Amino acid sequence: MTTLEAILTEATTYFAAVKSAPELEQTKAKYFGKSGSLTEQLNSLASMSPEEKKVAGAAINLAKARVESLISEARSRISHAELEAKLNAESIDVTQPGRMAGIGGLHPVTRALERIEILFATMGFAIADGPEIETDYHCFTALNTPPNHPARSMQDTFYIADSEHLLRPHTSPVQIRYMEEHEPPLRIICPGRVFRCDHDATHSPMFHQIEGLWIDEGISLADLKGTLTQFFRAFFERDDMQIRFRPSFFPFVEPGVEVDMEWENKGGKIKWLEIGGAGVVHPQVLRNGGIDPEKFSGFAFGMGLDRLAMLKYGVNDLRLFFENDVKFLSQFR
Ligand code: DAH
Repeated sequence: MTTLEAILTEATTYFAAVKSAPELEQTKAKYFGKSGSLTEQLNSLASMSPEEKKVAGAAINLAKARVESLISEARSRISHAELEAKLNAESIDVTQPGRMAGIGGLHPVTRALERIEILFATMGFAIADGPEIETDYHCFTALNTPPNHPARSMQDTFYIADSEHLLRPHTSPVQIRYMEEHEPPLRIICPGRVFRCDHDATHSPMFHQIEGLWIDEGISLADLKGTLTQFFRAFFERDDMQIRFRPSFFPFVEPGVEVDMEWENKGGKIKWLEIGGAGVVHPQVLRNGGIDPEKFSGFAFGMGLDRLAMLKYGVNDLRLFFENDVKFLSQFR
């Protein structure tokens, strides 16, 4: 059997030469494996007398500790070398052009809205706001649509369990809220989210409307037509753009109209597109808002904001606006 001294001399050389983790394991086995030289030394203790065992055992333990420290030195040397090699392999080429950080942009509906707000502001309209969870009173009753009136079904929405509140199906309740808090003359637009039980390529359960309201002495349907014509021409940057009114019914206006705008489709064909509802504010609605209909009159309108954004930017499916697909959105940056 080799002496402990010989084993240690050999181990020092071997472990100093080891270059990788698997190689280290193999070398370790030479000493601590089943027939490793230190294992053999330990096994030899069995046949010794107690006195001999004491002396030999202590010497073997010392040798064992020495080999173990050789192993841990080799292990740390290997891991350092591996790290070094990795760092060298991954070195950064500082002459390469840098990668740009992605820059976000405004959502197309927001962009359209900002444009609309600016255009109406130049015509003296302030911007008003109202709650998305509305009372039944503001959404319907105060707008001249009492409970069980069939016109309520025009805007079927999501009701909340207490039956007093609902997700507003249109921005028209803001008319009442604004009248309750302000004295005429009033001139506002109110953009916002609205909710209905609809879902297909041109309808989403959540979409956006812009309400408009102008109340003063002597405001008529002619002012409505002038205001909207000016707005559409500026928004679509077409000076000759026409709009037309078709008689229609909304409980909160009298007379009421459907607003259509002239639109040239891709084939160059002129079509009329329905873009909103409007009319002269019903005297009962003014009264509900605390305004004297003998003294004041006004017009109101409600338009689909998403529809305007679709036409402005040439988007053909409303759902694209709400899917948050970066490929779609990045086209508008
Ligand atoms: N609120 C109506 C709707 O969502 C649109 C509308 C029609 C608004 C006539 C008005 C209006 O202000 O006068 O269907």
